Amino acid sequence: MRAVIEADGVGKIYRSRDGESGLRELSLHANQGEILALLGPNGAGKTTAVKGLATLVAFDRGTARVCGYDVSTEAARVRDHIGLVGQDAAVDEQLTAGQNLRFFGRLRGLGRRSAGQRADELIEEFGLCEAQNRAVSSFSGGMRRRLDLAASLVVPPRVLFVDEPTTGLDPAARRDLWKSLRDLVHGGTMILLTTQYLEEADQLADRIVLIDRGKVAAQGSPGELKTLVGPPVVQVVFETTDDARNSLRILGATLTEVSLDENTSTITLPKASATVLGEVIATLASAGLPPAEVTLRKPSLDEVFLTLTGDHSDTEGNRQ
Ligand SMILES: Nc1ncnc2c1ncn2[C@@H]1O[C@H](COP(=O)(O)OP(=O)(O)OP(=O)(O)O)[C@@H](O)[C@H]1O
Ligand SMILES: [Mg+2]
Repeated sequence: MRAVIEADGVGKIYRSRDGESGLRELSLHANQGEILALLGPNGAGKTTAVKGLATLVAFDRGTARVCGYDVSTEAARVRDHIGLVGQDAAVDEQLTAGQNLRFFGRLRGLGRRSAGQRADELIEEFGLCEAQNRAVSSFSGGMRRRLDLAASLVVPPRVLFVDEPTTGLDPAARRDLWKSLRDLVHGGTMILLTTQYLEEADQLADRIVLIDRGKVAAQGSPGELKTLVGPPVVQVVFETTDDARNSLRILGATLTEVSLDENTSTITLPKASATVLGEVIATLASAGLPPAEVTLRKPSLDEVFLTLTGDHSDTEGNRQ
């Protein structure tokens, strides 16, 4: 099966007096029925990548095909097959949900009646019935995002680009949107979404491309990325800080890299395994220091993210 997105070394550099920013180099392939997450901190180049693949900006390097069409020489054909939910809302604040959806339908070439029917279907599907006659300006963030998504689906696309679908949404609205995205993929759409939320990528994506400062820092399934930063971690939590300190002394005699967080009375062993876990439990039991909680877990995607990108997510942009 041919990939629906094939990007080889694409980029778009913005130059200013402060230096260069934008997207330096991105290669990725994605298949039908897959969710691919472009994960990265502010200014990593996610929106630039989406805009380039959706033909809203021209890449200045590399080549990309979407649904088999070249984004630079066959942009109109690409647009026929894609949907885009931008980072900023595209819907009109003054119009109702129904009016917006009919407008998008007409824009995509539907006749008046079909546009009306499609709008009604989408309003039902996205749970916007109650609000359908209210102006969008009175909508909550979650309702707006659902309407944005609905507007991109008036003509069902083969590939849907969604730029930061849940930024600013509360956990319930976020879960609703995740469900809508999963349903779409079950229907056969390929989704490329961007996110700064590791949990979102972990929950939704079959594959994650981690970008940082305009370049790919790592890619793979969520599980593969977790193994990239090394073996599992053992954490032992104690009832009291004194127990934790005594345990640290005892465990530190035989194990290296044992650390203690006094605030949470938690000991962490970074390079762990089931064998190490067994030894820790036996040693603590014979020392009369029973832990309150013991876990063996893979590093979280947060830890992967920080290890691979370095902790510079508070710096603005990706200027080098
Ligand atoms: N039109 C533009 N003109 C100049 N610089 C730009 C332009 N668009 C993006 N940039 C710069 O390119 C870099 C990447 O921007 P981009 O919007 O792709 O990042 P992002 O990963 O989407 O970030 P965020 O998570 O904040 O949305 C940033 O440093 C940004 O300032
Ligand atoms: Mg962005």
